Amino acid sequence: MSTAAYLDTSLPTADRVADLVSRMTLAEKVGQMLQLTATEGVEDLINTFHVGSILHTSPDRVMEAAALAPHTRLGIPLLVAEDCIHGHSFWEGAEIYPTQLGLAASFDPDLLRRVARATAVEVAATGIHWTFSPVLCIARDLRWGRVSETFGEDPYLLGELGAAMVEGYQGDGLGDPDAVLATAKHFAGYSETQGGRDASEADISPRKLRSWYLPAFQRVAEAGSATFMLGYQATDGVPITINSWLLGDVLRGEWGYRGTLITDWDNVGNLVREQRLFPDYAHASAAAVNAGNDMIMTTPAFFEGAQEAVRLGLLSEERIDQAVARILTLKFDLGLFENPRLPDVERQRAVIAQPSHRELGREASRRSLVLLDNDGTLPLSHDRPLTVAVVGPNADDAQTQLGDWAGSSGQAPWLAHGHPREMITTVLDGLRAQAPEGSQIRHVQGAGVVTTAPDPRGEFFPDGQPRPRIAVPVAPDPQEIAAAVEAAQGADAVVAVVGDRIELVGEGRSTATLELQGGQVALLDALIETETPVIVVVLASKPHVLPASVERAAAVVWAANPGMAGGEAIAELLLGAIEPSGRLPLSWPRHVGQQPTFYNQIDAQHGDRYADLTQEPQWVFGEGLSYSQVEYSDLRISQPALTTADTVRARVTVANTGTRPVRETVQAYVRDNVTSATWADRELKAFTHVDLEPGTHAVVDIDIAASACTIVTAQGRRLVEPGDFTLLVGPSSRLSDLLEAPFTITGE
Ligand code: NOJ
Repeated sequence: MSTAAYLDTSLPTADRVADLVSRMTLAEKVGQMLQLTATEGVEDLINTFHVGSILHTSPDRVMEAAALAPHTRLGIPLLVAEDCIHGHSFWEGAEIYPTQLGLAASFDPDLLRRVARATAVEVAATGIHWTFSPVLCIARDLRWGRVSETFGEDPYLLGELGAAMVEGYQGDGLGDPDAVLATAKHFAGYSETQGGRDASEADISPRKLRSWYLPAFQRVAEAGSATFMLGYQATDGVPITINSWLLGDVLRGEWGYRGTLITDWDNVGNLVREQRLFPDYAHASAAAVNAGNDMIMTTPAFFEGAQEAVRLGLLSEERIDQAVARILTLKFDLGLFENPRLPDVERQRAVIAQPSHRELGREASRRSLVLLDNDGTLPLSHDRPLTVAVVGPNADDAQTQLGDWAGSSGQAPWLAHGHPREMITTVLDGLRAQAPEGSQIRHVQGAGVVTTAPDPRGEFFPDGQPRPRIAVPVAPDPQEIAAAVEAAQGADAVVAVVGDRIELVGEGRSTATLELQGGQVALLDALIETETPVIVVVLASKPHVLPASVERAAAVVWAANPGMAGGEAIAELLLGAIEPSGRLPLSWPRHVGQQPTFYNQIDAQHGDRYADLTQEPQWVFGEGLSYSQVEYSDLRISQPALTTADTVRARVTVANTGTRPVRETVQAYVRDNVTSATWADRELKAFTHVDLEPGTHAVVDIDIAASACTIVTAQGRRLVEPGDFTLLVGPSSRLSDLLEAPFTITGE
């Protein structure tokens, strides 16, 4: 019996794909385009729906699916997908790193590449082939519930860090046995919410998209992200699911993207149910596929709908073949027909949370911490016993420390109890382990954050689906506060670990306010009234507005969700065992009413403040202190008259004038002095790190391609407008922190 051509490894992939597609029935092809959730089981998905992919698959179900797939008519392997977005999120005992926002505070593509690589190694051993990471949404309105999944507010930083993660996940290419498919999501503009409300209509013009929202996606498309995922938003009346301009003309046309495009969760269903653009699934399925989607996530009705669409002449089988071919190409490129990359128990034992990954977790946690304020109390003395009061709801809450998309964050029913407690160090654990011998660590929780209650409108929607519970602040508890104050009395320092919890974080969980919830403000106010210096550690998914009393705190540290090693890293930072090096990847507001506060706004307006409040954020993009002092001087551009083919080559002297080592993040911004359309005052174009011992300095090189000094014209074209520019270099985006040097671009 001759082997079918699609199984012949000597043939080019395109021939194998074509052969296989020619053997498939319409139902098999439409099923191949479906990705369904395996939370209720896999048999029906494989045998009835002929699915090409499954997601949210427990370890047991991965095995079950692996056993079933080879016995289907054509034996097409499955793509198993999961949101492994800061480590192997839902594999019990995998290493969990800081959230993407926490990782972004490192401003270090190399670190993110290594985190993604380590994640891929763990993921690949468990029979999962595809991760839905990185997120390239811009965080502008911090009320949005998904800020912690982003890299913050700057398009250039997003692109650099996103590309690094893609390289890490996909390794040496899809043939690499440790490669997993990356996903650039959520294409494009999903984060442009109204009032932070998740998945609301995104009011965003094509020019605005091209200016800020698309560049990171283009960067990551060029870096080879194997897949792209849509968001949920509609823009100017057009749901992203059927936005053929963005999916077709821009992504496939202008950028020449050849990867696979997947919808987000039930986007096709939303076209019928919520957005109400189509009367039935035949029309909605046809529209989604005709617009360019290849794989449809979690819309079972697509199976009948798409077949009906073909019968009605709404959808051509050629377009279906093209989508199926893209999906099959991924499977051939991964080599799944020869080796379906099933779970490998021995390899899991060797690689999951292996020592090098645990060490990388520590490094990532350390690098995610941002020191925002310090009156000199930090670092705490480590050569004599200390008395430290450790208080606050997040001081000893292991699962909260991991943040969204990890363990018990709610997406994985098989991991309801979260990751193993013994793998996680909380701040309390860290200080107990590291405080100088003879120290006294007093612990009082002091305040709660929120609990949940049934929605007052009823526990169920009219269609019988359960309504999400609502978050209810926990009232301040005078006894708890009194106990915390008592613990603070006479102590060397209070470490108050405040922040948010999963009930206030994530999809569908945007917040109306940015204040610390529950009893936390009352707790901080009371502690700051004591004589004891208060170190505020904001262990929170996103920046929070801090109460006025915190102006009198001794120090403020932001710890995002710092991962399993977070508590250890925070203790090291407080005790001076490491140097603070993180930088804010987004502006930190003073008041929720300032939203949005991003630094690269177009700032032509009447005046520069509100009548009742400054517009200045509390801390700006790029800001972060060290335990030393750093001075910048002598910014020079070697050749300040350039053509667009040249590179702006600059040097700046960076000196550590303090008494501790520093890892400095040198940031370079460019201003286009005169533009044909309104534009941001300055934009980040380069950043680099320099390590300096006390009393030393370094001359740091900064290279920026002149061709990167672009704006987007009123007609929506991105180009360099020849003329005068300014290079601004320094430790943050704040104008007063930046040295300036002029240069000119003369044209081609
Ligand atoms: C919906 C989320 O928007 C997306 O980010 C995620 O990857 C999918 N669900 C799958 O869990």
